[in-house]
Amino acid sequence: MEQLLQQIKNYKQEVAEYTAANADAVEEFRIKYLGTKGIVKSVMGEMKSVPNESKKEFGLILNEFKQFVETKFEELKNNNSLHIAQHSDGIDWSLPGDDFGVGTRHPLIIVRNQIVSIFKRLGFAVAEGPEIEDDWHNFGSMNLPEDHPARDMQDTFYISQNPSWLLRTHTSSVQARVMEKQKPPIRVICPGRVYRNETISARAHCFFHQVEGLSVDEHVSFADLKQTLYFFVQEMFGKDIKVRFRPSYFPFTEPSAEMDISCLICGGSGCNVCKHTGWVEILGSGMVHPKVLENFNIDSNKYTGFAFGMGIERVCQLKYRVNDLRLYSQNDVRFLRQFTGAV
Ligand code: DAH
Repeated sequence: MEQLLQQIKNYKQEVAEYTAANADAVEEFRIKYLGTKGIVKSVMGEMKSVPNESKKEFGLILNEFKQFVETKFEELKNNNSLHIAQHSDGIDWSLPGDDFGVGTRHPLIIVRNQIVSIFKRLGFAVAEGPEIEDDWHNFGSMNLPEDHPARDMQDTFYISQNPSWLLRTHTSSVQARVMEKQKPPIRVICPGRVYRNETISARAHCFFHQVEGLSVDEHVSFADLKQTLYFFVQEMFGKDIKVRFRPSYFPFTEPSAEMDISCLICGGSGCNVCKHTGWVEILGSGMVHPKVLENFNIDSNKYTGFAFGMGIERVCQLKYRVNDLRLYSQNDVRFLRQFTGAV
């Protein structure tokens, strides 16, 4: 009995002197004194061995001890949160942080993803290639030999340290890289950034984005090209869209055609966007030139292919009515925030 009372006294002393520098120490205190295997429980357990006549008196002492420990625990807890709130240099680390907000996808990425997902449904795989290219992949293999006048159509940035390297002017270079590695059947689309030495204005930029398509197999025909692209624009712009093909020229395709779609703004009756023609140009396309196939040892008597290339900015412009190309790279959040909730 005496011994037990002395022990309680010692514990009280210990509790009274306990200090906690952080939340962990407060928790340690709780476990040590108030936990299921803690000191208060074990002292309470001693009640059994106390003779009956002393039980009442001893019970009071025990209760008082328990309350003493609980009060101390509350005190430690409160002091500790105060301690955190007044942490170094008056900064309150417990305050909630500022909301930075969630970003939105860039409109060009939204449109690129839509284009990719439409062609994926037709069985096209996605291929990518380097933005710094050599002459062969960007021009030579695409049937644009060195003195070819069509090179002037694309003002090229050459790398000054090594002029045989350049920034790719079109994603057709990825066609080359795919045919180099893979034999038919080939069905790929190649989204990516391309560069041309143009003065920056609302209608031109020194870099922009394209999606190239290539399908090479036995018996691939111009009808396949037309149907594929018709499906694409219907999925992209709606079932009411009309298309027309105009004969054109690209060195890497023969025959070549540009595809127009009926103007989305005026529905074909004529407006500023379509320059009162009712039609807007959307992409270039054609049957892969036999020379291009032969450049990659693909037998042009056995295999044929179609290819097409379109500007993502152009599709985006038609879809979202963006009328200044510079907006895409100015990073103005007022512009970017308008494109929420898309894939
Ligand atoms: N490379 C062309 C350009 O940048 C676009 C193009 C036209 C790509 C016809 C093609 C194609 O694959 O068949 O203007």
